[in-house]
Amino acid sequence: MTQVLVTGATGTVGSLVADRLLDRAELTVRVASRSPASARKRFDCEVTRFDFTDPTTYRETFRGVDRLFLVRPPAISRVRRDIVPALAAAVGAGVEQVVFLSVLGAGRNRVIPHARIESWLASSDVDTTVLRASFFMQNLTTTHRNEIRDGELFVPAGSGETSFVDARDVADCAVAALTEHRTGTYDITGSAALDYSEVCRILSTVLDREIQYADPSLPRFLVRRYRIDHDPAKVFVMGGIYTTARLGLADRVTDDVQELLGREPIAFESFARDYRDRWKK
Ligand SMILES: NC(=O)c1ccc[n+]([C@@H]2O[C@H](COP(=O)([O-])OP(=O)(O)OC[C@H]3O[C@@H](n4cnc5c(N)ncnc54)[C@H](OP(=O)(O)O)[C@@H]3O)[C@@H](O)[C@H]2O)c1
Repeated sequence: MTQVLVTGATGTVGSLVADRLLDRAELTVRVASRSPASARKRFDCEVTRFDFTDPTTYRETFRGVDRLFLVRPPAISRVRRDIVPALAAAVGAGVEQVVFLSVLGAGRNRVIPHARIESWLASSDVDTTVLRASFFMQNLTTTHRNEIRDGELFVPAGSGETSFVDARDVADCAVAALTEHRTGTYDITGSAALDYSEVCRILSTVLDREIQYADPSLPRFLVRRYRIDHDPAKVFVMGGIYTTARLGLADRVTDDVQELLGREPIAFESFARDYRDRWKK
């Protein structure tokens, strides 16, 4: 039976991928986490301790694996030192296909970690599927959850549009790639690009109360986010993401979800309705 390993299985997309694969009788699923005890409470399948930065975890993690769902942890940026050794171990252990969660724009910004992982995969013999995902709608239920609950969305994106994608669509695309052995590079976006005024208008309608778009300057945003996250690298990356949107570079819409899934992507309004309890006061 085909054995699939899911990395990032406790994260936004990885958890959805693992859940969906566990419904498939034709596969066996192993999930990887640095904290296997808590992952075992979440998943009814084999769980392995895995840390990209700890090579002693590679052998058990990749033993017998045919297909790999690869998530690059946001905190890891030194690809050659911290990601490549694990990938080399996976390929050496016989992994035949890697489905990599990359980011929209990785094709034109070759210095970002995702682009360096894509390059390594392209230079290897392993069958590769690259899913370059746009900005997840679910960031509004995680990173921006509290401020939306309090009536405001505080991001420095001006009137720039973003082709928001639902993480459930990204997970469905990953599962299609893993189960149907679809290879190649796909740009995974929603079906429309929205600016943050429109996002707040939809949230206001769905939540039946006013959600204001603050549109702060970049310095104000960085200071506020640093007070919340206490993580300069994360805050810097967020500043870059919203500046990219402000400059109109995050609005590309593609048909790749339709191509992989044979259906339209989930609309922002449907996402907001499905998750509305997350922003309850
Ligand atoms: N957020 C977006 O809008 C977006 C859009 C496109 C692409 N992406 C990309 O998607 C990826 C995931 O981003 P995310 O913010 O959504 O994160 P996430 O999936 O919510 O969480 C990251 C995952 O990484 C795992 N992890 C962390 N450090 C690890 C390590 N040293 N070794 C092994 N696993 C480790 C964590 O598992 P454990 O703690 O269980 O070990 C966790 O499951 C990133 O590469 C990001 O750039 C994000």
